[in-house]
Amino acid sequence: MDHARLRNPALRAKLMSAEDAAALIPPNSAVGMSGFTGSGYPKRVPLALAARIEAEHAKGNPFRLRVWTGASTGPELDGALAKANGIEFRLPYNSDPIAREKINRGEMEYLDMHLSQVAPMAWQGFLGPLDTAVIEVTAIREDGALVPSSSVGNNKTWLDRAARVILEVNAWQNPALEGMHDIYYGTALPPNRVPIPLTHADDRIGETVFRCDPSKIVAIVATDAPDRNAPFAEPDSAASGIAGHLLEFLQHEVRVGRIPPSLLPLQSGVGNVANAVMSGLLESPFENMTAYTEVIQDGMLDLLDSGKLRVASATAFSLSPEAAADLNARMPEFRNRIILRPQEISNHPELIRRLGCIAMNGLIEADIYGNVNSTHVMGSRIQNGIGGSGDFARNAFISVFMTPSTAKGGKISAIVPHASHVDHITQDVQVIVTEQGLADLRGLSPKQRAKVIIANCAHPSYRDALADYFARAQKSSYGLQSPTILTEALSWHDRFVRTGSMLP
Ligand code: COA
Repeated sequence: MDHARLRNPALRAKLMSAEDAAALIPPNSAVGMSGFTGSGYPKRVPLALAARIEAEHAKGNPFRLRVWTGASTGPELDGALAKANGIEFRLPYNSDPIAREKINRGEMEYLDMHLSQVAPMAWQGFLGPLDTAVIEVTAIREDGALVPSSSVGNNKTWLDRAARVILEVNAWQNPALEGMHDIYYGTALPPNRVPIPLTHADDRIGETVFRCDPSKIVAIVATDAPDRNAPFAEPDSAASGIAGHLLEFLQHEVRVGRIPPSLLPLQSGVGNVANAVMSGLLESPFENMTAYTEVIQDGMLDLLDSGKLRVASATAFSLSPEAAADLNARMPEFRNRIILRPQEISNHPELIRRLGCIAMNGLIEADIYGNVNSTHVMGSRIQNGIGGSGDFARNAFISVFMTPSTAKGGKISAIVPHASHVDHITQDVQVIVTEQGLADLRGLSPKQRAKVIIANCAHPSYRDALADYFARAQKSSYGLQSPTILTEALSWHDRFVRTGSMLP
């Protein structure tokens, strides 16, 4: 390995193959891996581990692992281990299709968590001991400190908590990442917590590297492989419509003096719609914006590039291959305007509330009272997970949820009489936007919310049926605070499961 990547001579003795490193992981143990939204995950050790699990399975010695990460990873980690039937338990977020299928078939236990809570809960200890940390880094400094790669996630906690550490030094990661990160070591458990000294999105409060006890490092593996870097869909008319309504709303909020012309720190969720909204901001009149968010997708990078966004604080990149190549080619230009932090800090409720973020997240369905389901299709099938949406929605200055008004070619309405699963209660949902329009729910009671959501957000194919349900519910409901017809509340979902369509 290039000595510029592994600058500590003593640690060079720990260099070994991915296979030898994977053999050091005890069967049936807990492994904390790096990785967040497809970036910064280890690329070779998990593949070697999956091969080892398959070989042991063939010999009649099957074993499985408890896998903890920052958030979603890539096919070389979640995909390969799930395919090998090697994951017994997974936390805190997954978007891998093979793992998703295993979870939904009941073959893998999955704990979907608020991403800000993972590190503190690991420290509390009830997740059990962490045996091994497998962490991708950009380089190892002379003093043994670790230069993080394209995501930070829970790496600091895994490095601190694990009994042994395996490092992948990935030559694909740009050496110019060094200096971009801000690793805060001041968190503690109650009763010893103190305020986190961050008052602006671009404050730096920590160190640029991870510390790691060198005696715990049992293996170092050289890699040269790209992050997952999946492409985004071109904004379709629904995404552009949503972006248009949202921009109009933000302009209105500035006009009436509720937020400044540079807006408040933006948080933009994962997925195509969130990306399209960021792209929409390129055409907006807002200047000098900041972002205090979880992931930096293509749209946000474009905003930085345009100069409209002054700085972005996050925990990870989640880029298309083209945007990743562009960032890598111009990393020094971006380095001082992007800060990557541990997810415990990027998603910290105290900081989100203090900064007054404008949170913008996707949803699967919302009901007429504004309860939001971000995770479960038809109430039972996990799509991804809550991710950071709960951290941001509850604590934001303005909490926006957005979605196309229908899914699956119009056969599913995103606005339903009753959410089949609730991730965000109505009190945490202030604005809902679809391509049909925007519902500003602030200050409205449940029945007032229902009228606005049905009128502004529902697709015309479902609007009358929703209005009819709401009218009948007001006549026959047990109580009239949030009128509900119990026997009908989930009938739309039931119809979809039986017939393949919610259409009346
Ligand atoms: N019923 C069934 N499926 C639905 C659906 C519904 N009501 N709404 C969306 N989906 C499906 C889509 O059909 C699509 O499926 P496909 O991949 O098989 O085509 C998938 O969910 C993604 O939907 P899409 O419309 O492309 O939106 P998106 O990429 O913006 O993702 C979420 C939407 C809700 C899945 C995504 O935002 C998410 O996982 N959110 C939770 C985590 C989060 O908010 N993180 C950010 C915090 S910082």
